[in-house]
Amino acid sequence: MAFRFNFSNPDSDNEDEQLDTGIQAISLKTESEVEHVESDRMQAAKFDIEAMKLPDTLQADRVTMSSIAYTMYKRTLADVKFQIARQDDLEAEQTPMIEMAGNTDLIKGIYEGGFKTWECSIDLVEFMHTKMDDSSLTNKKVLELGCGSALPGIYLLMRHESNQVDFQDYNEQVLQYITIPNIILNTVVAPSEASAEDEEPGIEHNGLPQDNANILDHDGQDDEDEDEDEPHADEEEMDSADAELEISETQAPDILSKLSQRSQCYFGEWQSLTNAMNLSDNLNKYDMIVTSETVYSEESIPGLVKVLQNTLKKPDGVAYVAGKTVYFGVGGGILPFCACVDATKDKENHKLKYQSVFETSGKNTVKREILKITWDI
Ligand SMILES: C[S@@+](CC[C@H](N)C(=O)[O-])C[C@H]1O[C@@H](n2cnc3c(N)ncnc32)[C@H](O)[C@@H]1O
Repeated sequence: MAFRFNFSNPDSDNEDEQLDTGIQAISLKTESEVEHVESDRMQAAKFDIEAMKLPDTLQADRVTMSSIAYTMYKRTLADVKFQIARQDDLEAEQTPMIEMAGNTDLIKGIYEGGFKTWECSIDLVEFMHTKMDDSSLTNKKVLELGCGSALPGIYLLMRHESNQVDFQDYNEQVLQYITIPNIILNTVVAPSEASAEDEEPGIEHNGLPQDNANILDHDGQDDEDEDEDEPHADEEEMDSADAELEISETQAPDILSKLSQRSQCYFGEWQSLTNAMNLSDNLNKYDMIVTSETVYSEESIPGLVKVLQNTLKKPDGVAYVAGKTVYFGVGGGILPFCACVDATKDKENHKLKYQSVFETSGKNTVKREILKITWDI
């Protein structure tokens, strides 16, 4: 079944809205609208970062955090569409995927919403930034599940160079066109190049050396060196982006190679994810798992809980799950997630436990929460 969260602001003509702001309505499509068989769900596999092709420019918008002054960038959807339109070797399935991203929030088992940035991912970044101490956020092996634009995982990469952060999204195309470009945009940018007054002192941008690429803030600098003959997204779309990163053909392999030293990426279904990872030894498991807006579907929640059980290090691993208390019409939410955690033991008869560490208080909006998950051993 496909469904749509009608998040968009009717006053906005920007299809690549910065952020989905809350469920206002959901229209359920009929089964026949989506040709999808449950058994076709994508098997998990590792994504080959170094084999991917980077575009020569990335257009990005700044992400606005409501409660902290911290700048992150996310690639615009218009730029993704532009890259796909330019590719000669386009795989047939990629066009519908990106069209879907503009037209619907998700289609179960086909496109699971990763092209957009969902609001609980901002909650999670703000929570880590304001409520967690440095020792909890350094020297960690981290996994972001259902990453999409991946702001929480990228925040942890930016936070300290000692962190290794792996990313998983259902859709391979989301990793290629959104997750990895966003990692590059945020870990390449040097403090002097981003808006300096927003920079948090002491936060290092430890991704890639500044000379690997050139990020231009559209508000701050003349693009004198820009080749006017170079094909680009239409002017209006390009001008509306906050920043642009130029990547030459010779720089691209170096960028991807450095990125893959700190991150691995996986795509596909949670049910088969553990098999795609080499994690049989507890020491290889994750110190920290972060995930946002991934509990919306009741039928997917057991798979998500299974991944947490199989990949969170014992006994001290910690996971943070950000989501809405309830997702109307689809049966998921924080409450069914908690019920599943309560009911599930792993092979060694160990259980996970949860504790609410953040919740919103607005009366007329759906409540958003963050759960802290630890082993009950
Ligand atoms: C609504 S998006 C949220 C994206 C991002 N975390 C955010 O908050 O902006 C849900 C994400 O969960 C992942 N997902 C949902 N169901 C899944 C499943 N059954 N197996 C694997 N991944 C799934 C998809 O990768 C998708 O990107």
